[in-house]
Amino acid sequence: MTTTILFVCLGNICRSPAAEAVLRHHAPDLRIDSAGTSGWHVGEPPYGPMQQAGARRGYDLSPLRARQFAAQDFDRFDLILAMDADNLRTIEALRPAGRDTPVRLLTDYGPERADHVPDPYYTRDFDGTLDLIETCVAGLCADLTGA
Ligand code: 4NP
Repeated sequence: MTTTILFVCLGNICRSPAAEAVLRHHAPDLRIDSAGTSGWHVGEPPYGPMQQAGARRGYDLSPLRARQFAAQDFDRFDLILAMDADNLRTIEALRPAGRDTPVRLLTDYGPERADHVPDPYYTRDFDGTLDLIETCVAGLCADLTGA
């Protein structure tokens, strides 16, 4: 069974910390982390409006701090889940030779019409993004437990 999961977005202050908090809520025993392909917000807590949207649904994002994705993450996690195709390409470009850690889109576990998690830093639709993350994380949990 997959036990260590890394969520990756661009800034690590909106989508991937939200996904981290949602999965932790459902699966407190899994080792879960998140990272950004950029280093723009390293050390910062999740974006305020994202924290607030999460808190309204019972997800505590406040302890999280942004970090940048690194090639060593291929050794540290069983599954890496990107929020969009740009993230996925950046991650794959850092894959060390010989590592076969799967990198997938989070939306692979969600409704067929979704091919990326929209970035609420730009759309401002924090609840819409959380809706999609919740649906995809439920699909991920079903996949992990073989349901
Ligand atoms: P995220 O959203 O990738 O979901 O964390 C972003 C947050 C900040 C920026 C871009 C995306 N930014 O340009 O600062």
